[in-house]
Amino acid sequence: MKKRAMATGTAGGNGRRRFLKLAGYGALGLMTGGFRPLLDHSAAGQNPETIPQTEFVPDLDISLMARPDEVAVFPGNPTQVWRYHAIIHKGDKNRVIEIPRSYLGPVIKMRQGEKIRIRFKNSIPEESIIHWHGLHVPAIMDGHPRYVIPKGQSYLYEFEVRNRAGTYWYHPHPHGRTGPQVYRGLAGLFLVSDEEERAAGLPDDEHDVPLVLQDRSFDPDNQLVYTSGHRMEQMTGFLGDWIMVNGMPDFTLPVSTSAYRLRLLNGSNSRIYKLAWQDGSPLTIIGTDGGLLERPADRRYAFLSPGERLEIWADFSEHPVGFETSLISLPFETGGMGRGMMMGGRIGQNQSLPNGAGFTIFRMKITKHVKKNQTLPKMLSEIRPLPQDEAVNFYSPRQFYLTMRQMQWSINGRVFEMEGVADDEIVQLGSKEIWEFNNTGGGMMQMMNLPHPIHLHGKQFRVIERSGVVHEGYVDEGWKDTVLLMPGERIRILVDFEDYPGMFLYHCHNLEHEDMGMMRNYFVRES
Ligand code: C2O
Ligand code: CU
Repeated sequence: MKKRAMATGTAGGNGRRRFLKLAGYGALGLMTGGFRPLLDHSAAGQNPETIPQTEFVPDLDISLMARPDEVAVFPGNPTQVWRYHAIIHKGDKNRVIEIPRSYLGPVIKMRQGEKIRIRFKNSIPEESIIHWHGLHVPAIMDGHPRYVIPKGQSYLYEFEVRNRAGTYWYHPHPHGRTGPQVYRGLAGLFLVSDEEERAAGLPDDEHDVPLVLQDRSFDPDNQLVYTSGHRMEQMTGFLGDWIMVNGMPDFTLPVSTSAYRLRLLNGSNSRIYKLAWQDGSPLTIIGTDGGLLERPADRRYAFLSPGERLEIWADFSEHPVGFETSLISLPFETGGMGRGMMMGGRIGQNQSLPNGAGFTIFRMKITKHVKKNQTLPKMLSEIRPLPQDEAVNFYSPRQFYLTMRQMQWSINGRVFEMEGVADDEIVQLGSKEIWEFNNTGGGMMQMMNLPHPIHLHGKQFRVIERSGVVHEGYVDEGWKDTVLLMPGERIRILVDFEDYPGMFLYHCHNLEHEDMGMMRNYFVRES
């Protein structure tokens, strides 16, 4: 019999000129859709507009298929999933790593400056498209839902990897169906390395461990169960009662008496983790969404909301073989249903493991003694200064209110429109801007005030200010692409729109919120 996770209550380039051209569009007229996805990756099938003037020579050339598959998650019946599967056409085989026994897609490994071609083939029975979460790529490579392709068709991605070393990821982005598609298994990691990271001398190979955290629910037949579709459940977001790590339940990581780099991604639809070590020792954070921090940062605990990444340094050299510890999620308040709410309780919440419940995420067990002493570097990387007063709107930041009206999450009262961009969502290429997000109850009735992880496509940004009720547990240092706003919070971020014109998304990364339209376009205008 399956044993659910138990709530514990307490617990201790060239810049690719041609892309700039193609993605530039020049005018807003383009938003009426002229751009077509490639229906075929052969030269003959390409839209002439997208045929490069100079040949794109990829360092890694792969096909990535989304297709139905099955995985043995539990003893007994295999679980039906959708899964990304890769075939390498050109490049080093060690750059595409399948995770055994997992529904997750392969881990793709690239070096900064390398070029990748991905021939996405959609073989699931509905529309899809892939978004490269956190990667700085041109608009047509970013997986906007307007580029969705139906079953049987392909979309060609070609881009240079320009990001800093870090833990990025990829997942589907069709409008209204991102939640269910990710839930079925479509997601994978995209790791970038660079010289600076190598120089930092962090644990590598089997001491560099990616850990994707997700929650799932299963029926007695071992099949995945998604939300009932009930509106209240959508309003909260899907919450499963099994905590999965790299697609596996009851996960234990065998380790040796040495130091580890743990790369955590919250790939859950809506669950937020309040990460801590079981024994209460502090977490040593070395990286976030956009790569390594300047120097390690200690936290008693740290929130990890959907879409966010955190990298942790864990050193087991002082412990004996047989030692066990675990990474846990501490209980916390989500705000939930607002004060004075008529509905009260936890309607729409998973009853056995609500958001904010405490539980064990996974265990680590020392199984091997090795003599490998590695010390935590004092300096990890250099973070380029981004002075606030260079923002064109330094005195009047752009305002975004996270709002709810008539059981519908929205941003500034607006919901997603495929081609729609409002006047106050247009930014100038080459400018820096301050964006302010407010999760202070924009809904008329303030019925419900929930956490919202806000994600910008195409950019890494800096968090420059945070005010509200929660004062601990954030890692706002370094580069971010997703940032959590707890109820009552207001944050300011600084974004540099230095390159890549065109249309990109910003949205809540609670996937059920996103699917119901808590997502908007922003448009980077060239002149
Ligand atoms: Cu990770 Cu628009 O998403
Ligand atoms: Cu949200």
